[in-house]
Amino acid sequence: MIQTLEWTDQGVRFLDQTKLPTEETYVNCTTYQEVADVIRNMVVRGAPAIGVAAALGIALGVKNSKAETVNDLKRDFDQICGVIGKTRPTAVNLFWAIRRMQAKFETLRARTVAQIKQAIIEEAQHMHAEDIAINQAMGRHGAALMPASGSVLTHCNAGALATAGYGTALGVIRAAVEAGKKIHVYADETRPFLQGSRLTAWELVKDGIPTTVISDNMSGAMMRQGKIAAVIVGADRIAANGDVANKIGTYTVAVLAKEHGIPFYVAAPISTVDLETPDGSKIPIEQRNPLEVTTIAGKRMTPEGVQIENPAFDVTPAKYVTAIVTERGIAKAPYGESLAGMVRRKGSPVCHSGVSHTAVRLE
Ligand code: MRU
Repeated sequence: MIQTLEWTDQGVRFLDQTKLPTEETYVNCTTYQEVADVIRNMVVRGAPAIGVAAALGIALGVKNSKAETVNDLKRDFDQICGVIGKTRPTAVNLFWAIRRMQAKFETLRARTVAQIKQAIIEEAQHMHAEDIAINQAMGRHGAALMPASGSVLTHCNAGALATAGYGTALGVIRAAVEAGKKIHVYADETRPFLQGSRLTAWELVKDGIPTTVISDNMSGAMMRQGKIAAVIVGADRIAANGDVANKIGTYTVAVLAKEHGIPFYVAAPISTVDLETPDGSKIPIEQRNPLEVTTIAGKRMTPEGVQIENPAFDVTPAKYVTAIVTERGIAKAPYGESLAGMVRRKGSPVCHSGVSHTAVRLE
């Protein structure tokens, strides 16, 4: 399996996603500030991977702390969480992970500094392993939704690279292929950061899953020609009413899918569901550097002086979403009820700690 990120004796190691597909190189972070930078610069990206990176970054900061008392360690811990919480605003998994680490720290208050450090590192490592298991569970639920044979369109990268491993939307595709389904994938290029052509194509080709890259403006024509049986994407945040924030361009795909009677599926872990955000209008949308739009591989593509917008995400209203695949099962409309029931359900095959990700708002 692709090692998107991992805890090492030296710190946290990340596969550098800004260099793929031409270079397979790694960035070794030895401080939590470096981990914050790799999240901000998208060396690591994708909502679940950002969450796990945040947890590992916090663990690294705690490990490196020079604090000699529990109170001083807590002061350092709060500082680390504050820095990591300011990296990227849209993916709620970041805040969910920070909140989970905060809740863990609270349970450790009576322990020694050394014991707290060890337990915090173990919690982050546990979240890494848990994310892979969650994706595999999502795959088992979602595979049934995939056609027995046909083409599936995806946007951005919701694969192993966007998670600790296996992927959400691509995890569902992987599970369907493992179950014997004959799936061909259309991967939207995903301007401006090219997660589709650089990352989704890279990991699917590695897995031997037939894949065709199309530029973002081609999907409507493909749908009209009957070439696409289903759409499946990931999510950065799902509001309580089922509105879905995902990579910019997802909304366009969802509207097109509805027009052509094609099912539009979202695959995301429960940690992406934010019941404290009532609807998509309240989801903070990250604005990124205009250079991502004006240049390709360092070469300028627009004239000097032109104005640029670069929202990294858009919101797809729930009415366009056929179903949401989670590790606890498949949610359908009305999402207000189905998602709340799923988040609160106990005894699911893969359990989160039950921590509310937004109890402490860092946004
Ligand atoms: O800006 P990115 O690359 O972090 O955006 C990623 C996406 O939009 C993914 O579709 C989403 O995080 C789901 S990843 C399983």
